[in-house]
Amino acid sequence: MSELRPPAAPRRHLLAIGDLDSVDVERILETARALAASLDREVKKLPTLRGRIVVNLFYESSTRTLASFELAAKRLSADTMSLRSAGSSVDKGESLKDTALTLAAYDPDVIVIRHPSIGAPQLVARNTDAHIVNAGDGKHQHPTQALLDLYTIHAALGRLEGVHVAVVGDVLHSRVARSLVQALRIVGARSTLVGPPTLIPRGIEALGCEVSTDIATIGDADVIYVLRMQAERMAAGEAFVPSLREYTAEFGVTPERVRPGQVVMHPGPMNRGVEIDPRVADSDVALVADQVRAGLVVRMAVLYDLVVERPASASGTTVDVSGEGEFFPALAGSSHGEVS
Ligand code: CP
Repeated sequence: MSELRPPAAPRRHLLAIGDLDSVDVERILETARALAASLDREVKKLPTLRGRIVVNLFYESSTRTLASFELAAKRLSADTMSLRSAGSSVDKGESLKDTALTLAAYDPDVIVIRHPSIGAPQLVARNTDAHIVNAGDGKHQHPTQALLDLYTIHAALGRLEGVHVAVVGDVLHSRVARSLVQALRIVGARSTLVGPPTLIPRGIEALGCEVSTDIATIGDADVIYVLRMQAERMAAGEAFVPSLREYTAEFGVTPERVRPGQVVMHPGPMNRGVEIDPRVADSDVALVADQVRAGLVVRMAVLYDLVVERPASASGTTVDVSGEGEFFPALAGSSHGEVS
């Protein structure tokens, strides 16, 4: 008689922030905080993903996301491969599906993908056995950006629940705004999207946010989150504002529009002098560098969370990277969780 086995758990992905609930978000943020502490050590590398393969597949430009995923995988001792569409066989007409099938032949554990088309990460998930992380698909989702933003807000304000975030600018073309609004809702924070009516998608309130076309609304917020004007997602000749100069005059975040006690965030890359005044970008209230730093530990935490199996009963919020406990199962037997 054949042995009855429980069905294998489906391979987990991070395709959208909605894949996570509040317990998942808290677990990942707590892991990231523990990892941040581990990075203060002299030897910064952990053996957690030794022998694993992480592929970064980027069909769109990136500085922060690609660099931080690559470093995150290396800090966890994974073998990494980074492919950009330019210079790969995409130039010769290879489809995303064929590229995914080709990479699948190397048995990667994780594929991190950025693509201009909505749904590209789902296509790769259907055609490989890897865990897939969406590093940005069109104007749809950028879940790890939302997680690093939550991490940064919590580090700056000491809380997430009840925090009010005003997201200002080109919401229409922004995957960052969509992911962040949903992430804020998951943790009990409030969000208001602010911008000209042409740059606020109709019906976006369904995501659980408020909407305003009055820049003065940002005065009510704890956090002013500035979005870039995404010219690359606008068709040639398409105009959403009368001119950049007028947009800056009406919606640019200037020192005069930031009240004491507020902090300012921007996912980058910034267009200084357009959506954000350089005096704000370079001030003490700007958390832009903190966001970049958070990107490393949060992406380490996401890789860890996807790859390392957790016991079914684990609530997952107990974190110990002191070297005495066994927070990272892969570290069991390793004195300080460092690569020897
Ligand atoms: N915030 C962000 O996604 O930046 P990059 O485009 O540089 O990765």
